[in-house]
Amino acid sequence: MSHFIVYIDLCIFTIFLLSQKASCIDPQYVACVPRHCGGHNITYPFYIQGLQEPYCGYPGFQLSCTSNYTYPVLHIPDNDYIIQEINYTSRSLRVYNAAVLSPHQSGCFPPVRNISLEPDKFVFGSISNLTLLSNCSELPEELLKYKTGCRGGGGWDLAVVANDTDLSDAMGVCDTSTVAPVDLMHGNVGGGEYEELLTRGFMLNWKAGDCTVCENSGGRCGFEWKSYHFKCFCPDRPHAWRCRSRMSLSLCISVYKIILSSENVNSILMIRILVACTVYSDSGITMFCHVVQ
Ligand SMILES: *[C@@H]1O[C@H](CO)[C@@H](O)[C@H](O)[C@H]1NC(C)=O
Ligand SMILES: *[C@@H]1O[C@H](CO)[C@@H](O)[C@H](O)[C@H]1NC(C)=O
Ligand SMILES: *[C@@H]1O[C@H](CO)[C@@H](O)[C@H](O)[C@H]1NC(C)=O
Ligand SMILES: *[C@@H]1O[C@H](CO)[C@@H](O)[C@H](O)[C@H]1NC(C)=O
Ligand SMILES: *[C@@H]1O[C@H](CO)[C@@H](O)[C@H](O)[C@H]1NC(C)=O
Ligand SMILES: *[C@@H]1O[C@H](CO)[C@@H](O)[C@H](O)[C@H]1NC(C)=O
Ligand SMILES: *[C@@H]1O[C@H](CO)[C@@H](O)[C@H](O)[C@H]1NC(C)=O
Repeated sequence: MSHFIVYIDLCIFTIFLLSQKASCIDPQYVACVPRHCGGHNITYPFYIQGLQEPYCGYPGFQLSCTSNYTYPVLHIPDNDYIIQEINYTSRSLRVYNAAVLSPHQSGCFPPVRNISLEPDKFVFGSISNLTLLSNCSELPEELLKYKTGCRGGGGWDLAVVANDTDLSDAMGVCDTSTVAPVDLMHGNVGGGEYEELLTRGFMLNWKAGDCTVCENSGGRCGFEWKSYHFKCFCPDRPHAWRCRSRMSLSLCISVYKIILSSENVNSILMIRILVACTVYSDSGITMFCHVVQ
């Protein structure tokens, strides 16, 4: 009878080892290592399209890296934004419109379109609205200070900070307008400074599952599209929130030695503990992985 139990234990042990051989370290954990783009570490909730698997990020947080991998770009309808700073602690970004980088005549500006945030993903930090106007008819004198200096050629004629009392007058003489978020550090600006304002960028805060619990347990955050749920990818397998801490091998060995030294050595118990030590200790699995590879 006792031999039968030992055989069953050994069987379970072997099946476990064979299943471990297929995946000593969880491939999703391996795939979700932070990647670099433009001097920034890109990690959950963001992922770089083409470089990282979508399950390494949160839906709607995909970035692209420009062809020469100079900077990460976030697309928020209907604009591309260059990421200047990224802070995973405060969950905030400083971004500026990629239109700034496209070739353009001095003073003129390539198209900037109205931004539409998905409020469940991103919210503005402290911003002001800069209104860009074009197709303006004859300008009255009080609006001349908002001129962008762009002469002809489909650029913006005026740039007005949105809380300015002159805005309604400007809207009256111009046909087309776009609102761009800006970080207004020192009061109102003239039209000529709008390029500097757009280049300075603004802050965005993101809303997506906090990663600290998973990260502190040694995992890498991700998302399971099938169940549409947050996942914590750990070296052994994906977990719901955090990696399970494993028994230390030394503790196992101590227990094993105590049993060996006792008077009535129970062989079944010994084998059970040996199995448990290998199955539940990190080092046991790591040792096994080295042996089979
Ligand atoms: C990115 O992460 C690595 C290690 O994870 C760290 O050494 C490096 O300083 C980080 N770089 C930036 C720009 O945060
Ligand atoms: C490559 O990077 C430089 C800045 O370092 C930038 O001016 C240029 O536009 C980039 N080229 C492409 C194709 O993205
Ligand atoms: C990120 O944000 C935290 C909390 O607001 C702040 O303490 C930290 O200095 C910031 N890190 C950087 C690099 O700005
Ligand atoms: C900026 O404009 C948007 C709409 O375009 C509005 O929701 C937001 O409250 C405005 N922000 C400020 C600071 O005026
Ligand atoms: C100005 O208006 C014309 C026609 O009304 C339009 O075709 C053109 O695109 C407009 N220009 C800009 C910069 O919006
Ligand atoms: C951009 O938004 C402003 C105000 O929110 C609106 O007046 C304007 O028509 C919009 N422009 C376009 C091109 O949709
Ligand atoms: C517009 O807002 C800025 C900063 O929020 C402020 O300094 C300025 O006085 C305001 N201008 C008007 C005309 O209200």
